[in-house]
Amino acid sequence: MEKKFKRTLVTCALPYANGPVHIGHLAGVYVPADIYVRYLRMRGREVLYVCGSDEHGVPITIKARQQGCTPQDIVDKYHNIIADSFKGFGINFDIYGRTSSETHTKNASEFFKKLYDEGKFISKESEQYYDPEAKTFLADRYIVGTCPKCGAEGAYGDQCEKCGSTLSPEELINPKSKLSGAEPVKKKTTHWYLPLDKDEQWIREWILDGHKEWRSNVYGQVKSWLDGGLQPRAVTRDLDWGVPVPVEGAEGKVLYVWFDAPIGYISNTRELLPDDWEKWWKSEDTRLVHFIGKDNIVFHCIVFPAMLKAYGDGYILPDNVPANEFLNLEGDKISTSRGWAVWAHEYLKDFPGKQDVLRYVLTANAPETKDNDFSWKDFQQRNNSELVAIFGNFVNRAIVLTHKYFGGKVPSAGQMLDIDKETLWQVPALKESMEKNIENFKFREALKDAMSIARLGNKYISDTEPWKVAKTDMDRCATILNVSLQICADLAIAFEPFTPFAAQRLRKMLGSPLDWEILGRPTILPVGHVLAEPELLFAKVEDAEIDVQLERLAKIRAEREAAAAAEAARQVAPQKEECSFEDFEKMDIRTATVLEAERVPKTDKLLKLTIDTGIDRRVIVSGIAEYYSPEEMVGKQICILANLKPRVIKGIESKGMILMAKQGDGKMRFVTPQEPLTNGSQIG
Ligand code: 2FM
Ligand code: ZN
Repeated sequence: MEKKFKRTLVTCALPYANGPVHIGHLAGVYVPADIYVRYLRMRGREVLYVCGSDEHGVPITIKARQQGCTPQDIVDKYHNIIADSFKGFGINFDIYGRTSSETHTKNASEFFKKLYDEGKFISKESEQYYDPEAKTFLADRYIVGTCPKCGAEGAYGDQCEKCGSTLSPEELINPKSKLSGAEPVKKKTTHWYLPLDKDEQWIREWILDGHKEWRSNVYGQVKSWLDGGLQPRAVTRDLDWGVPVPVEGAEGKVLYVWFDAPIGYISNTRELLPDDWEKWWKSEDTRLVHFIGKDNIVFHCIVFPAMLKAYGDGYILPDNVPANEFLNLEGDKISTSRGWAVWAHEYLKDFPGKQDVLRYVLTANAPETKDNDFSWKDFQQRNNSELVAIFGNFVNRAIVLTHKYFGGKVPSAGQMLDIDKETLWQVPALKESMEKNIENFKFREALKDAMSIARLGNKYISDTEPWKVAKTDMDRCATILNVSLQICADLAIAFEPFTPFAAQRLRKMLGSPLDWEILGRPTILPVGHVLAEPELLFAKVEDAEIDVQLERLAKIRAEREAAAAAEAARQVAPQKEECSFEDFEKMDIRTATVLEAERVPKTDKLLKLTIDTGIDRRVIVSGIAEYYSPEEMVGKQICILANLKPRVIKGIESKGMILMAKQGDGKMRFVTPQEPLTNGSQIG
C-alpha cells in the first residue's frame, strides 16, 4: 500500500570535486532530480533538496600531486566551478555543501565513533601495497605494470584496459607505483570493516520483498549483490587526505571516501538546518529519495543503509533510489581523462541562454532504462524541430496574433466548436499522465506528455488558422485565440520542471500563475487580461554552432586514435620457442633483386614478383600489395628465404618467400641489406 509522507528529502550524488561536471552527470542525476523537485514544489509539497561536493578520495590527492598544489586547492577550484554550473542550469539546491567542511568533519567523525564505540565494526590486519618512496599505501588503481594476459604496458592493478582482463596487483609483471615509479612493497596495516554479511537478510526483505516498485536496474543490481553474498567492507584507508579516523592508534588513517561521502548528505542538512535537521532524517513522515548514477547503486542501497541501520537513533532509509544508467557521447563512453565529454560550464559559455535546450535533450534522451547516446546532431534537431518549431512556434503565433487583433488582451471565447472542446479536453488527461510519470521517476515519458500539449496547441492553431478567420469572423478568431492562450498557460506550468527558464519567460509574457492544480483548466487566463510583448521562447541552433563542437570532438578522437596506433606500433610480439642452430642453418636466406612486379588479378593483397636470386630468375608471390605498389618494388634489393618448398598460389608457382619486418600495428616493410650486395649473397 502507498505510504503517505509529509515531506520529501531529495539528495543528489555528491560529485567529486576533482573535475567539472559534464552532460553524463547532468543527465544521470541532476536534471532528473531537479525535474522531480520542481514538480513537487509546484504541487506545494514540502521538499528539501540537498547536494554538495565530495571532496575526499585518492584521485584528488593524485591530482594535487600532479599539479604541485594541495588537495584543498583542487577541491576549492572544482567546488566553485561545479556549484556555478548547477546554478547556471537552474539547479538550485537548498544547500550545496562540502565534505571538507567543519560540520561534515565533525559529523562524519561522530558517526564513525559511535559505531566504533558500540562495536559495530570488526578490525582486520592485512598486507597492502605500499610505495616506499611516496610513503603511502597504494590503491590497486595506482599500481601499473605489464598485463600478464596480453603483455600490454600500463595495465592497472585492478584491470587491463587493453584486453579488459580483471587483475590483481600481484599478477602485474614489473609493478610500479603510479605516484613515484617505485616498486611497491607489501606492508601490514589494520583497518575497520563494516560486517555487511550480517545485513543480508534485512536488506533482502527491505528491498527485494518491500520495494519491488524500484527501477529494474536498481532492483536487479541489489539482487545480484545479495545473491553473490555480502562481504565485510573496509571503511578506513591509509591516507593523509580525508576525515581522520577518530580513534587512538589510527594515526595516518582516514575514513574511506565512500564511508564519509553519504554522511555528507546528513552533514549538509545539518549545516543548513542546525536545529531542524532531524525531522528530515529521523522521521517516518519523511520520504528519502536518492538520485544517483548506476555506479553508486551498491553504496546507496546496501552500504549507506547498513551504516544508518547500525547507527540506529531513528535514521530513515531511502524510499526510492532512482539510479540512471550511463550517457555516452557521440557513440563513445564519456571519459574525463580523455576529455571526451561536454562540460557543463563550457556549454554555458558556448550556448548562453540555452540551458533549457540541454535540459530538454538530456531528458528526452535520458538513460533511464539503458545506456543512451548524446549526439550534437540530435541536440540540434530536437531544438530546431521540437522546441523551436512546435513549442516556440505555437506560443509565438498565439501571442503575436493576440497583439495584432486584440491589442494584447485575452479575447473572450464565444461558442465552442467540437475542435475547441476536444483540444481542451485532452490537457487534463496529459496532466494526469505527467503526474503518474513524474511520481514514478519516468521523466522521459513525462516530458513526452508535456510536449504532447505543445503539439496539441500547435496543431490546433494550424488547423483553425485564426489569421485567415480574422478576415471574415472576428468572434471566431477570438475564440480560437482564447483557447490557444489557455494552452500557452498550460505549457508555462507543464514545462516548469523541464525547461524552467523558458517556462518562466512564458509566464512573464502571459502574466500567468505557476500552480500545478490549474493546469488543464480552460480559464487560466481571464478575458481582458493584458499580455506582455512577445519574445521568442527558443532560438534555432545553427550548423556553425554544432560544427564547432563536432570539430572539437573530432580532434580529440583523432588524437586518441593516433595515440592508440602509436601504442600498437610499440607492441612487440613475444619471443618464439627456442630453435637449434641446425634448424636455422637449414634456412637458405639470400639477397635478391626485383626485376618485374605486377598485381595478381582478382586479389587485393598479392603481388607477383620476378626476381634475380643470383642463382636463378624465379617468381615469388607475396602478400605485400597493401604496403607496396608494383612500381615501388621494381629494382629493390630484398632478402628471401630461397629454399622454402614451392607453393602454388592463385595458380602461380611461388618459389620462396620475401623477408618482411612486421610492427605491432601490422605495418610491414621488406628487409634489405644496409648496402647493395651481389644477388645471392647468403644471410646467416
Ligand atoms: O560517484 C561519485 O561521483 C561520488 N562522488 C558520489 C558520492 S554520492 C554520496 F554518497 F555522497
Ligand atoms: Zn591485457
